[in-house]
Amino acid sequence: MRSLLPDAARSEGTAALTAVELAGPADDTPFITYDLGVVRRQVAAFRDAFRDRVAVRYAVKCNPDPLVLAAVASSGGGFEIASLAELDLALAAGARPADVLYSNPVKAPGHVAGAAARGVVRFAVDAPEELEKVARHAPGAGVYVRLAVDDTSSRFPLSAKFGTTREEARRLLLAAPGLGLVPAGLTFHVGSQCTDPDAWAHAVRLCAPLMAELQEGGVRLRMLDVGGGFPARYAPSEVLPDLRDVGARVLEALESLPYVPEELYCEPGRALVAESAVLGATVIGRAERSGRVWVYTDVGAYNGLMEAAQTSGTLAFPVTTSRTDLAGGPTVHCTVTGPSCDSSDTLLRDAVLPAGLEVGDRVYLGSAGAYSVCYASTFNGFPLPRARYVG
Ligand SMILES: Cc1ncc(COP(=O)(O)O)c(C=O)c1O
Repeated sequence: MRSLLPDAARSEGTAALTAVELAGPADDTPFITYDLGVVRRQVAAFRDAFRDRVAVRYAVKCNPDPLVLAAVASSGGGFEIASLAELDLALAAGARPADVLYSNPVKAPGHVAGAAARGVVRFAVDAPEELEKVARHAPGAGVYVRLAVDDTSSRFPLSAKFGTTREEARRLLLAAPGLGLVPAGLTFHVGSQCTDPDAWAHAVRLCAPLMAELQEGGVRLRMLDVGGGFPARYAPSEVLPDLRDVGARVLEALESLPYVPEELYCEPGRALVAESAVLGATVIGRAERSGRVWVYTDVGAYNGLMEAAQTSGTLAFPVTTSRTDLAGGPTVHCTVTGPSCDSSDTLLRDAVLPAGLEVGDRVYLGSAGAYSVCYASTFNGFPLPRARYVG
């Protein structure tokens, strides 16, 4: 196995760029190479940051690759699912149904029934209609209510689509026993790629008055789930909260609650897998338009990095190339775009690449493991990256 990356990229790159070795010939692009050791180390980092008091339930939607799921399971992580198909993947990775959290707040009725039939016992809700749906299709199940919380420090906010108020949460949990359900707990999501180290602890503290009100109403919660949103490193220079600091703040915030529920969970997605993967692409074209250099590769937003389109090419995936012979030479600021005929197929609006980069050269994008190939399509007839694994 030879090194994928030049030493310069190793010393200044992200975990993905420094860790991934090429598991096969570099000419077979597009590919995505996972370093499964990074996934295992990240699960361990979460367990350590939360002193093993908060159980890890990996958000399968982030990257449902079976070997990624196996790496999570083998390091002591469990799973959070959004659908029945994700449940089957989690079960195939060795999860026990009763340990799986079904945290998608609005679920297809058949998926609720299917999950209950397979032994899932906990479902998130955030509206009266969903509470009734769970009561009908998963009688006797536990429900945990998703609160809308501040997500303004995140790159991908979620609280407009999901989450409810403290008052509604109280009504839902007090109504649950009357519908034959167990009022199990609370959850929230601070938004994906959240960079405020206090966001999770702040949301935990907001649960305190609600838990006190519920206690007065005779309801004692057994679970609290602090959701996902933990950030991954993209640009090497990015300032990110330290996971141990986030964990310490959450553990401290638990002391502000009227009691600490016996089951505590977190649902990281991006932070577990983003930095485990490198996307490999080939330059298929080059053009200068209005004084700007455009580099076209055989992987784009549609067949590999949809979040590049969602962020208009500004999510700073670290990038390097196969042209180690040009290192230290002239560079050019360029737009790196995909192979389709759609202009939103762009990966990076402003990448600095060797000026001599040519058709046939390789481009490697790091931190490509989260919300990437699982979103991808063969739009315009371009293939999905083939998965390779090391570690
Ligand atoms: C319910 C739920 N939990 C966890 C996650 C994972 O979030 P992240 O990848 O930001 O950690 C998501 C992502 O959308 C989610 O919807």
